[in-house]
Amino acid sequence: MFAIAIDGPAGAGKSSVAKAAATALGFTYVDTGALYRTIALYMLEAGANLEDSQAVAALLPQVEVSIRYSPQGQRTLLGGRDVSEEIRTQQVSMATSRWVSHIPAVRAFLLDLQRELAKRANVVMDGRDIGSVILPDAQLKIFLTASPEERAARRTKQLEAAGEPADFNQVLREVIQRDRQDQEQLGVIPPDAVTVDTTGMGFDQVVDRLTSLARERMGTF
Ligand code: DC
Repeated sequence: MFAIAIDGPAGAGKSSVAKAAATALGFTYVDTGALYRTIALYMLEAGANLEDSQAVAALLPQVEVSIRYSPQGQRTLLGGRDVSEEIRTQQVSMATSRWVSHIPAVRAFLLDLQRELAKRANVVMDGRDIGSVILPDAQLKIFLTASPEERAARRTKQLEAAGEPADFNQVLREVIQRDRQDQEQLGVIPPDAVTVDTTGMGFDQVVDRLTSLARERMGTF
């Protein structure tokens, strides 16, 4: 199997770029953030105290998180319920980023599931610690980044396009806050990762860069 690990900060465009690169290469796209978000949703619904990592860990065996693929791409399930949309709310984003993703038991709980997925298919997997922890033997590791200002400008545009007026400075503050919260997972950039800074790059240019890196590597493996 061939695995492409894409790590980097929130808002660098990882998921859209990873999805497009996976389609171009005929690979399966795996969004690992969705798994952390699903656990956060479960904990919020269960009324768990997210600050209490032991309480969260004690509930983990009850969480049935899985993914399946539809023509629209990855769908994320909690028990039998499709929660792909619910896990995108601001409340779930913040709970995941601030609390749930920092709990070692949560990270351990999701480790095998992520590795299993990469055993079954050629994957483009995006997250924070894919190249460093989950798939240290991935054939291609990308660290996808962009300046905080660029990421905030893209996010502001997205929100405006969705009819939600957004203030650039407020969005920039949120981007910086998320970076701080995610720093722990992002801390280790594997030395064999290729850094792609997308500041000033167009979407298609980034996808082309990734697919050509992958094709080069595939020729050598
Ligand atoms: O990529 P995302 O925004 O959907 O990720 C949601 C949160 O989960 C984010 O705060 C970082 C965290 N996360 C993580 O710690 N490890 C991963 N492999 C993926 C996401």
